[in-house]
Amino acid sequence: MKQGVLQRYREYLPVNDSTPILSLGEGDTPLVRSRAIEGITGCGELYFKLEGCNPTGSFKDRGMVVAVAKAMEAECKSIVCASTGNTSASAAAYGAYCGMSTTVLVPKGNVARGKLTQAIAYGARVALIDGSFDSALKLVRVLSERLPLVVVNSVNPNRIQGQKTAAFEIVDDLGGAPDEVYVPVGNAGNITAYWLGFTEAHAMGWASSRPKMMGIQAEGAAPIVKGEPVDNPETIASAIRVGSPASWKGALRARDESGGNIGMVSDDDIIEAYHLMAKREGVFCEPASAASVAGLIKRARQGESFEGKRMVCIITGTGLKDPDIAEQTNTPFIEEFPAELESVERALAFV
Ligand code: F0G
Repeated sequence: MKQGVLQRYREYLPVNDSTPILSLGEGDTPLVRSRAIEGITGCGELYFKLEGCNPTGSFKDRGMVVAVAKAMEAECKSIVCASTGNTSASAAAYGAYCGMSTTVLVPKGNVARGKLTQAIAYGARVALIDGSFDSALKLVRVLSERLPLVVVNSVNPNRIQGQKTAAFEIVDDLGGAPDEVYVPVGNAGNITAYWLGFTEAHAMGWASSRPKMMGIQAEGAAPIVKGEPVDNPETIASAIRVGSPASWKGALRARDESGGNIGMVSDDDIIEAYHLMAKREGVFCEPASAASVAGLIKRARQGESFEGKRMVCIITGTGLKDPDIAEQTNTPFIEEFPAELESVERALAFV
């Protein structure tokens, strides 16, 4: 049986004898070698960490299992989060598994269809907020001061603790740290968590070095790159449509301590990488996840040499989360035929 994050990494997590060790099968995700983009970008080695293989289809499950277990330990019955979609799907699933009531606040009209469907299916209460993710998070913070609710956004340190385990797995799979790690940045919890994970792995002697952390934001939602909050963030990658990241300082620390960079990519860059990933690598990811790959491609185009370097792009969520973008940005080969050999054969002969 798959161990799950709490069991596998219990020594390195805030787990004690009263913490329930539960799992929906999160963690232990594949690290897959690139067959196309490695050559396109001239990397020595390029790998994708497929976080879409987690139980609810995104990396959020690693942190959610820890946050929800700690909420149970504290005998709390209700959890709440603000979300661009994935956190809400994950909170709803783990909340359901643990018999908690889950409330999610999401920006109305700006959550991918699959993610909203997940929250509904798992039985969460969904509050559509007429505003941005940032305003939803503000509301959640105030609500949690007034009501007996545990916030399971990444402002909850247990989320960061759980998410750091992805860095442990990369070090384990590669036998050391890679040279650079590309992470899409929204609320900036994940880049903070990866840096914590790589730093701990280094301190424990599992890796002799630490990677450069390369955070990637979308151009229309790039507060960290621009150095100030963005009031009306806009990008096709709705997961990272965040104007004022809660873990801003954590992202800066990851960047500066690692000698890395926080850059930005356009929506066109994101969609190009999204299609390359699906059509050349066999990895259907969501647009926000493709931002990490777009960031790597952009640097390669700017003349950066990655010769001999070992690189990892974090593929944070599955493409099935956002079927609308897949339909809107593809010109599919899809035709109807009568059930007869001749017409199908004639059509296929041209392929
Ligand atoms: N990729 C995906 C697929 C995400 O859902 C998110 C964040 C990120 C990257 C960025 O991670 O916020 O830790 O910097 N999604 C949050 C949510 C905001 O509500 O699901 P981050």
